[in-house]
Amino acid sequence: MRTPLIAGNWKMHKTAAEAVDLVRTLVPLVDAVEGVEVAVAPPFTALQAVGRLLRAGAAVLLAAQNVHEEDHGAFTGEVSVPMLQDLGVSMVILGHSERRQLFGETDQAVGRKAARVLAANLVPVICVGESLAQRGAGEAFAVVERQLRAALQPIDASALALVVIAYEPVWAIGTGRTASKEQAQEMHAHIRGLLADIGGRKQADQVRILYGGSVNPANIAELMAQPDVDGALVGGASLDAETFASIVRFRV
Ligand code: 13P
Repeated sequence: MRTPLIAGNWKMHKTAAEAVDLVRTLVPLVDAVEGVEVAVAPPFTALQAVGRLLRAGAAVLLAAQNVHEEDHGAFTGEVSVPMLQDLGVSMVILGHSERRQLFGETDQAVGRKAARVLAANLVPVICVGESLAQRGAGEAFAVVERQLRAALQPIDASALALVVIAYEPVWAIGTGRTASKEQAQEMHAHIRGLLADIGGRKQADQVRILYGGSVNPANIAELMAQPDVDGALVGGASLDAETFASIVRFRV
């Protein structure tokens, strides 16, 4: 019912030439994999080069790591939805914890961006997740609820099924410390319950909820075996084509 999605978030890694090399190696490795959607999110500077490559035979979707909510204007250093569409981008990661923590992105800004992305028929991948201190204080579920409700507030319930949610506990990002399959499933089920409350059970059942945080070829299968885990948002392990491809081939 829900097609699994494995997306690589390259963060601030790879020049355009390095990005093209990676994708050239990756495409033949994942081409024949059926029933899994694959996406890569290179930095802005490599989107055009990778986009050209993928347009030829798109076994892999092109994603961006962020976007501005306005289409144009005096916003030095920002990039808009039409600019991304122009390069073949079909998916945009929003509200990654690094953007929230390091660049002051608020829940409300994430919501406005998500609404703009959806209005352009692109897929928003909305990231949520608690810090270690918040989990320690027993606030993980409340934090994720606050982030989710704020991000979805500007979105019409009828469009909810098109949204992708990525649960990325901050303490699992880049630390080698993955959430256990039980912790992931518990939070994903919580998220799906909130989605049902927001947009109805039918919509909620169609939303893909990805797990992110130290995903690797060794832990992907047990995470994907959880009923509410519909894919992964992969950081470090997406920077090598073979490693990322073995995550995409989690079933074999
Ligand atoms: P790692 O896979 O490197 O832990 O990063 C996860 C992440 O932040 C993906 O968006």
